Amino acid sequence: MLREPETRDRAAFIELLASPDVHTYLGGPRPRDELEREMPEAPERWPGSFVVELDGAMIGRILLRRATEHHRPAAAGKVDLGYLFLPRAWGFGYAAEACAAALDWLEGVLPGEPVVLATQTANVGSMRLAAKLGFTEVERFRAWDADQWLGLRPPVLPSA
Ligand SMILES: CC(C)(COP(=O)(O)OP(=O)(O)OC[C@H]1O[C@@H](n2cnc3c(N)ncnc32)[C@H](O)[C@@H]1OP(=O)(O)O)[C@@H](O)C(=O)NCCC(=O)NCCS
Repeated sequence: MLREPETRDRAAFIELLASPDVHTYLGGPRPRDELEREMPEAPERWPGSFVVELDGAMIGRILLRRATEHHRPAAAGKVDLGYLFLPRAWGFGYAAEACAAALDWLEGVLPGEPVVLATQTANVGSMRLAAKLGFTEVERFRAWDADQWLGLRPPVLPSA
């Protein structure tokens, strides 16, 4: 289920942001004590920021944000998809299901909107997920000391 973040998600948010496994390809985790100190009690809410819930507990998050300033000119101004799941929820198809639902939501609120996604090429799971969701390669580039992939999901054309 996709829903807005809530106060009760705080521990799961900290787990997600402090997990070295989750951040292997994302520049490293944040220190847990710093997160405990600095994370507000009530999470920020905005359209496109989703918590993914399974059996009543948060297992991940999905972000659809307009990238006003992006590392790559091809992505600037476009909606960008990001996803982070807790390791215990990996490998069951949840990310694919939840991202597809978030992209459906976007199609409802902004019909015909293209979406971009950037990921490290070494992040095999993320690369596979991007392909599964219909993203195709725009370009590869080097940033943050790693090889990166920029994908684009073209607008869904209305069926005739
Ligand atoms: C990337 C991530 C979201 C994948 O989550 P997941 O729930 O395991 O993904 P799914 O189960 O929906 O799998 C989607 C596809 O990727 C494949 N996949 C997932 N992890 C994989 C891995 N480590 N190696 C190879 N393929 C993998 C799955 O097999 C599936 O493809 P298939 O249906 O053809 O078999 C998850 O590993 C994660 O949160 N990683 C840390 C955060 C991160 O790196 N985010 C990317 C930021 S750009």
